[in-house]
Order: sequence, then structure tokens, then C-alpha cells
Amino acid sequence: MIELNNINFQYDDIPSLVDISLSIEKGESVGLEGDNGSGKSTLIKLLNGLIFASSGTYFFEGKEISKKTMKDELFEKQFHSKIGYVFQNSETQLFCGSVKEEIAFGPRQMGLAEDEIEIRCSDVMKLLGLTAIAERAPYHLSGGEKRKTALACVISMNPDVLIIDEPMNGLDKKSRVVLIDFLKAWKSAGKTLIIATHEQSLLNELVDRIVTITEEHRIG
Ligand SMILES: Nc1ncnc2c1ncn2[C@@H]1O[C@H](COP(=O)(O)OP(=O)(O)OP(=O)(O)O)[C@@H](O)[C@H]1O
Ligand SMILES: [Mg+2]
Repeated sequence: MIELNNINFQYDDIPSLVDISLSIEKGESVGLEGDNGSGKSTLIKLLNGLIFASSGTYFFEGKEISKKTMKDELFEKQFHSKIGYVFQNSETQLFCGSVKEEIAFGPRQMGLAEDEIEIRCSDVMKLLGLTAIAERAPYHLSGGEKRKTALACVISMNPDVLIIDEPMNGLDKKSRVVLIDFLKAWKSAGKTLIIATHEQSLLNELVDRIVTITEEHRIG
């Protein structure tokens, strides 16, 4: 489903990803680990089509993801509907007037009917315990509430691949349990999951395979 071949990427002068090759099958759960600054978040941004490799190739479901192919708006839209990404600093993803509007935004962009949007929003808010804050402005929420809202936004679009960067950042015990249960169910449903985290126990609990970005920025 995901195929990276000899990917190199650098932000400025310093290489952030060096010669990375990786393939992920549909339905696989993969953990990404590596030291601070090793390139986990960068790799995830690349998988999500937000940045593009300076050399090497990325194929998603057999189609190349590059600056050039993503210029096709329809292709780009379809790609983004299949792959959902919760940022490490997910509060930067929020911009709507209320939590509910925020969660409805993605499904609305996908062109879903309003009653379907309503169902998805209320289901995902119930799941993540956001119903009580549905009308609040995301800007004024606590860190954990923002995090859960950002997660809800991605989940409400029901992508094929879910990518979460540091999923447990700022979450309390109760929210952690809810999220772990959700991710286990996601896995059982045969959906693809990619998690970047420093939490070994989380990886042990959730993933089939761990990919380590080593000091040389190579994946082994
Ligand atoms: N926007 C940016 N501009 C310039 N350099 C960047 C940018 N984002 C990341 N980097 C650099 O790229 C390298 C990889 O960063 P990245 O955020 O991918 O690491 P990470 O493995 O996710 O780290 P952490 O465990 O701290 O989340 C680091 O050296 C970082 O300083
Ligand atoms: Mg990171």
C-alpha cells in the first residue's frame, strides 16, 4: 500500500531523511521509533504528501506521490481522503469556531450529506468524550482537549490509513484507555495504522512491527 524507495529529504542544508526505503502493507500496524530529531515527524509529513522527497520515490496504492502528481486536484483530494494524519502539535490543525464545526469540516469537504455528517460528528464526539464541549471554541480548549479534537477530526473522515504522531501527548488516563481501545478496534477492522512514539509500551500493545530510524537516518 505504501512504498518508499531510497528517499532523501532535507529542510535547509541538513539532511533529515537519508536513503529511506520502507514498505507497508494494507492492514499493517507499524510503529516508528527513533531519537528526538531522527526524522519521525518528517517521514510522516512525507507519507502524508505535505512535503516531497528531494530524491527517491513514494508510491501509495501503486501511484506515485510527488509534487507533480499532487498538482492534479482530484488526485490530491482522493489521496488526502485515504490517509489521515494527526500532527505532533495537533493544536495547529484547529481553526474552526467550535469543536463540532471543526469535526464536521473534513466530512463536509468530502461532500457527505448533512445527516451523515451529523451522525459521524456525534459518534466520534461520544467516542472521545467531546460531546460536552461540542460548542466551545477550539482555541480556548486545554491541550488534551485540543488533542482529542484533532484526533476526532481525522477519525470522522474514516481514512484507510491513520497516522498519529505521539498519540498520547497530553492525554489523561481515561483518554489514553479510550484511544488505545479505539486503535485496537481500528487494527481489528483491518485498517492500516502508523504510530510514531517514544512509548515502548504503546508500541508493544498496538503494532505488528517497529521501524527504527537510526542515527544515520536509515531505516533498519
Ligand atoms: N520545519 C523545519 N525546518 C527545518 N528543520 C526542521 C524542520 N522540522 C524539523 N526539522 C529538523 O529535521 C530533523 C528531524 O526532525 P523531526 O521533527 O522529523 O524529528 P522527530 O524524530 O519527529 O523528533 P521528536 O522525537 O523530537 O518528535 C531535526 O533535525 C529537526 O531539527
Ligand atoms: Mg516528532
